[in-house]
Amino acid sequence: MNREKALEVVEQLKQELGEHNYRYHVLDDPKISDTDFDVLVRQLQDLERQYPDLITPDSPTQRVGGQPRAGFAQVAHRVPLLSLDNALNLEDLRDFVRRAMKLVPEAQLEFVVELKVDGLAVSLQYENGFLVRGATRGNGEVGEDITHNLRTVKSIPLRLREPMTLEVRGEVYMPRSSFLALNAERAVEGQTLFANPRNAAAGSLRQLDPKVAATRNLAMVTYGLGYSPALSPVSHYDALMAMQKLGLRINPHLTILHELEDVVNYCESWREKRYELPFDIDGLVIKINNLALQEQLGTTAKSPRWAIAYKFPAEQAQTLVVGISVQVGRIGTLTPIAELAPVTLAGTVVKRASLHNEDILREKDVRVGDHVLIQKAGEIIPEVVEVLKAKRSGQEQPFAMPEVCPACGSKVTRLPGEVALRCFNPACPAQVMEGIAHFASRGAMDIEGFGPAVAEQLLAAGLIKDVADIYTLPAKREALMALERKADKSVDNLISAIEQSKTQPLWRLLYGLGIRFVGARTAKLLARRFGHLDALRKASVEELEAVPEVGPKIAESVTEFFSLPSSQAIVARLRDAGLNFVEEQAPGKSAPLEGKVFVITGTLPTYSRDEAARMIEEAGGKVTGSVSKKTDYVVAGEKAGSKLEKATQLEIPVLDEAGLEALLQTP
Ligand code: IVH
Repeated sequence: MNREKALEVVEQLKQELGEHNYRYHVLDDPKISDTDFDVLVRQLQDLERQYPDLITPDSPTQRVGGQPRAGFAQVAHRVPLLSLDNALNLEDLRDFVRRAMKLVPEAQLEFVVELKVDGLAVSLQYENGFLVRGATRGNGEVGEDITHNLRTVKSIPLRLREPMTLEVRGEVYMPRSSFLALNAERAVEGQTLFANPRNAAAGSLRQLDPKVAATRNLAMVTYGLGYSPALSPVSHYDALMAMQKLGLRINPHLTILHELEDVVNYCESWREKRYELPFDIDGLVIKINNLALQEQLGTTAKSPRWAIAYKFPAEQAQTLVVGISVQVGRIGTLTPIAELAPVTLAGTVVKRASLHNEDILREKDVRVGDHVLIQKAGEIIPEVVEVLKAKRSGQEQPFAMPEVCPACGSKVTRLPGEVALRCFNPACPAQVMEGIAHFASRGAMDIEGFGPAVAEQLLAAGLIKDVADIYTLPAKREALMALERKADKSVDNLISAIEQSKTQPLWRLLYGLGIRFVGARTAKLLARRFGHLDALRKASVEELEAVPEVGPKIAESVTEFFSLPSSQAIVARLRDAGLNFVEEQAPGKSAPLEGKVFVITGTLPTYSRDEAARMIEEAGGKVTGSVSKKTDYVVAGEKAGSKLEKATQLEIPVLDEAGLEALLQTP
C-alpha cells in the first residue's frame, strides 16, 4: 500500500475505532466484539509500523507511550477544583436546601442526584479536541501532571468527537473485580496489598511509568465542566449531556428530582443497592441543576453552596473477639485471624477478620475477649479497625504468635525485610493442603467440586498426598464412594471434573503449581512466551528475565522450582497422567498472526531464529525463507542483508525484535 492510500486507511481506522470506543465506553452499546476491535487495532498498528510518520497522539495505539517520567510536573488549575460539604443524615440535607432557599428565595429548585464514585478527582484538558493534559486535583488550585497515566485509561477519549477546547472533571476509579484480582496477584508475588479500590487507583496514577497504569484497568466518569468557553449549557444536566455527546463517559446512574423527600428516598435506595454496582461509591452527590442559580449561590472557600455529598458511613460493626487463630498459607505464611462473634456487615454475616501479620496484631493490641470495631476494606474483606479499649474488663488475654508452625510443629522464622512469620517445611500438612486446594481452585485448574474441604478430606483419608495424586483419583472410585457423605453422583462429577481439567491451558497449570511469585498474570506471560512447559522448564534466568514484567526475583524462583527433584517428579507424574503442557490461546484470539507470512533475517538480540520462528508459528503465522510479495513482515536483526533490502523495495513492514514481541502480545 502506498503512503497516500495508507493515510486514508489510517484515518478511516482511527475514525472507526473512535466510534466503537464511544459505543463501548460511553453508550455501553458495543456493535462489534472485542476480538473484531482488536483486529482493527492490529490493522492500524501494521500501517503505523510501515509509515511511522502517520502516527498521531490520538491514535488508539498510542495510549501507552514513551519513557517513564522522572517526576511529576505541577499544573495550576484555571478554575479551581472544589471539594464538597458532607451531609451525613436527613437533617444535614434539609439544612443544605434551607440555606439555598434563603439565598434564592424565589427559585424553584431542581436537583440532579449522581453517584459519588469512590476514586480520585482528575481534570482533563482538551485543545481542539485533543487530550493535552490530565492532572490530579491536588490542593484544588495546583495538581500534578499525570497525563501519561490518564492516557492509558480506555474510557478517557484521546480525542473528542468535536474539535473543542475545554476542561472537564471526573473521577478515576478501579472496578472492584479488578481490585480483587490485582491484590490476589500481589499477594502471590509477595507485594504489599492495597487497602481498597481507591488506594489501588491512586497508587496506579502515581506511577512514573505509564506501563503500570496500563495494566490496572482503571475507568473514569466525568461529572463536571471546568473552563469551557465554547459551551454554554443552562443546566448541569445539559452540561453532562454535552460532555457525553463529545465522547466523555458520564455517571452511569443519575436522576433529576424536585422534592427533598424524593432526594432522600433516592439516596437511601442506594444504601444497599450500592453493593450490586461493579465499583465502590461512598455516597451520592446532590447538585442544584440550574447553572444561573449555581452562579448566584456561589461558593464558600472550599466548597460550592449548590452541591452537597450525601455520604454513607463506611460499613462498620462492633463485635467480640472470641479467639485468635493462626492460619498457615500455601507458602507457609502465618496469618493471625480474629475469630468473632457473628455479626452482620454490609449484608453478610462475618465470623472472622484478618489481623494481617504479627506487627499489625501488636500495633492494634487485639486480645481475646476484646470488643472490636470491624469493617469491610474495599467493602469486601473484613478487617479489625480498632479495639474498643474502654470496654475492657481486664480479663482479656493477649495473644503471642507461636514459635512453631501450628500445623506441623516446625520452627517458624521471619525473613529479613518481611513482615510475615513463615514455616519452611515443604511437607507441612497445612501448606500441602493449601497447595492442593490452590491447584484445584477456580483461578487455577478449576476442578469443580474440589474445594479446600474436599482437599482436606482426601488428604486425611490418605487418598492423595500431592497435586499429582489428584489424577489417580478417577481410578479410586470405590475409595471415594466410601468417603463420608459422598453420593454416587457427586463422585462421578468430581471424577469428570478432574478428567476435564487435564486439558486446561498451560498458564492454569503453571499458576496451579504454586511457584513463588508466579501469579495468574505472570503465568500467562510465561505460558504465552514459552508455549510449552518443557521449554519453560529448561529456560535460563536470562531467558526468563527477557519476558516483559518478569524480574530477577520471579526468574530465580521459576528456575529454582524446576531444579528441585520434588518438582521434577510432580511434573513427570502430571505428564504421565496426560495433562496438557501446551498453551492454548483463548478462542477467537487463538492465532493473532493467523495467515501472516514472515521472513526472519539477521541476528536478533535475545531470541535465536528458531525461537522466533516457533513463537510466530505458535501464534498462527508461517515462516518462510525468502522475501516475496506474499511476505507480510520481515523480522530483521543485526547484519540483515539482501532480505532486508528486498523488503524495503517491496514496501513490506520490517520489525525488530521488540516490534515482533509487540505484535505477538497484541491480545
Ligand atoms: S462534584 C464542586 N460529583 O467527591 C463539585 N464529585 O467529596 C465538586 N466525586 O473531589 C465535585 N463523584 O473526587 C462531584 N458525581 C460527582 C462525584 C464527585 C465523586 C468526588 C470528587 C470530589 C469529592 C468531593
